[in-house]
Amino acid sequence: MKKELIKLVKKHGSPLFIIDHDEIRKNYRTFKRNLPRVQCYYAVKANSNQQIIETLFKEGSSFDVASYNEFMQVYEYIRHFEKKEKDFYIWDRIIFSNTIKDRDTLRKIKRYRPLVTFDSKDELKKIKDDCNTAGLVLRLKVPDTGSQVEMSSKFGAEPGAAANLIRQAFEWGLVVEGLSFHVGSQCTNFDNYSSALAITSQIFNDARKKGYQLKIIDIGGGFPVPYDNQVPKFEHLARIINSECKRLFPTDVELIAEPGRFMVATAAVLVSEIIGKARRDEKIFYHINDGVYHTFSGVVYDHWIPNFRAFKRGEKEVCAVVGPTCDSFDKISLSEQLPGNLEIGDYLFTESIGAYSTASSTKFNGFDGAKIFHLNK
Ligand SMILES: Cc1ncc(COP(=O)(O)O)c(C=O)c1O
Repeated sequence: MKKELIKLVKKHGSPLFIIDHDEIRKNYRTFKRNLPRVQCYYAVKANSNQQIIETLFKEGSSFDVASYNEFMQVYEYIRHFEKKEKDFYIWDRIIFSNTIKDRDTLRKIKRYRPLVTFDSKDELKKIKDDCNTAGLVLRLKVPDTGSQVEMSSKFGAEPGAAANLIRQAFEWGLVVEGLSFHVGSQCTNFDNYSSALAITSQIFNDARKKGYQLKIIDIGGGFPVPYDNQVPKFEHLARIINSECKRLFPTDVELIAEPGRFMVATAAVLVSEIIGKARRDEKIFYHINDGVYHTFSGVVYDHWIPNFRAFKRGEKEVCAVVGPTCDSFDKISLSEQLPGNLEIGDYLFTESIGAYSTASSTKFNGFDGAKIFHLNK
């Protein structure tokens, strides 16, 4: 693999973000194989690169979008469908998972009869006013203990408020299609899923007893990526989800999920170049041409722990790896085990960097960010 990376970076320049579409297909198929009852809605936010969306569209994936623009990125592939087929696709294969949508967005998506999430009475009122064609999914607050990125401090209705919100929606002439949750991203504590499913099933079954025919359970994202060998196996989680869903929900329930990271994280590798070297307080600082304002933005927003490897061999020592901007905050890692003999012009590579990386990259200080190269497209 190293030889191939060097060849690509020599040809295309650095920093180079290489996306392997075979790996995306493999991840999608692994997900489907292990969770056969679950319809997979790729969370576009994890990496909104158009070619990734295209690959997953061709694989048969559905999509979770957070904004009108993300919606239009998917719409691109169904624009040419017959009206009936298009309406059905939007209804059945796309979910607006952002619980808060501005009025302008709601007005723009109204004509598509979308499936949208909500978690408060105020949002419900907005949907009633501006997008009453929508099907609704009520997002619940669930435990996210130990997840790399927590969600429950910003999203989700308290389970105790759910019955009233469902009743209110129907009283206003809206239709609640189901319930959703998100256990936090990179969830390695599988009890979060068990608790969330138990909370959700109680609300679901109570609603049905009251005559509200909910249909959908959306188990969100959070599916863990094997960044290191401490991460418990996805296959184990899938077995828990399969058996809990069987135990807790009626057989006619439609199960859906919104995996983001799981589809794309392992599908990209970044090759960066050392553009400066200095000893600061006895430690070697490698200054590279990518940083936390760019492809390593996940270190800040995603609480991601980066990994660096060198192509060259040499005696390893603890080094710092920092970004190219003028900001002293732009430090990617202060403790990487790297050879001390690397020089300006040498390359480093970082694996499993496909999720929440280029997606949140900026152009700070006038740096464009990594070039994107597609493998096995
Ligand atoms: C509503 C929603 N669904 C799905 C996802 C994707 O989560 P993950 O990447 O952990 O699978 C996110 C991530 O932020 C989200 O906010």
